[in-house]
Amino acid sequence: MADRHDEQAPAPVEKRAAALEAAFEARGMKAADFIDDHARLVTEEWVPRNGARVVARAWTDPAFRQRLLANGRDAVAELGLTLPPHHRHLVVLENTEAVHNVIVCTQCSCTAYSIIGLPPDWYKDFEYRARVVRESRTVLREMGLDLPADTEIRVWDTSADTRYMVLPQQPPRTRGWSEDQLADIVTKDAMIGVARL
Ligand SMILES: [Fe+2]
Repeated sequence: MADRHDEQAPAPVEKRAAALEAAFEARGMKAADFIDDHARLVTEEWVPRNGARVVARAWTDPAFRQRLLANGRDAVAELGLTLPPHHRHLVVLENTEAVHNVIVCTQCSCTAYSIIGLPPDWYKDFEYRARVVRESRTVLREMGLDLPADTEIRVWDTSADTRYMVLPQQPPRTRGWSEDQLADIVTKDAMIGVARL
C-alpha cells in the first residue's frame, strides 16, 4: 500500500520556505537576517551595472583592458568590485569580428553574479544548458542573435571556481562617449554573450 505522503502534492513554496526558516531559527541560525542581507545584496550590490562599468572602462582605457584580460579578478578590484572568495578566477572573454563568446553553466546556474548580476531564468533552464553547447549558433539565433556564418562561436562552461564575463565589442557609433554613457548601453545579456550591442 502506498504511503499516504506519496499521494500528497508538495506544499506551496512559501510554506516550504517558512518551514525551512523556522528550522534554522530553532537551531539558533538567523535565517531572517540572512534573507534580508541577501535580498539587499541582490537588489543593490550584485547588479549588472558593475560589469557594465568594467566594460566601459575596458573600451576607453587600453591598459586597463589588457589587465582585465590578464586577470579579471585583480582588474575589477581597481573599480572597487569584488567577487566571493570561492570565485577564484574571473576570466574575461573578448569578442571580436571573428570570435563570439557565450557562457553557460552546464551543471547548474553559476555566473560571476557580483559583477554581471544574478543569472536570468532562461540561463538556468536545462534546455539552454544542454543546447547552447551542442548547437550554439541555432540557440543564439533563436534568442535573436544571428551571427555571420564565418564568426567562430566559443562556448565557455562555468565552474565553481572559474567565472566568466564576455567583453562585448564597442559599437562604432559610441566612439568618444563618456564611460557613464557607455555603461548605460551594456546589458547582462551582452556580458553572457547571447546579445551583441
Ligand atoms: Fe552552476
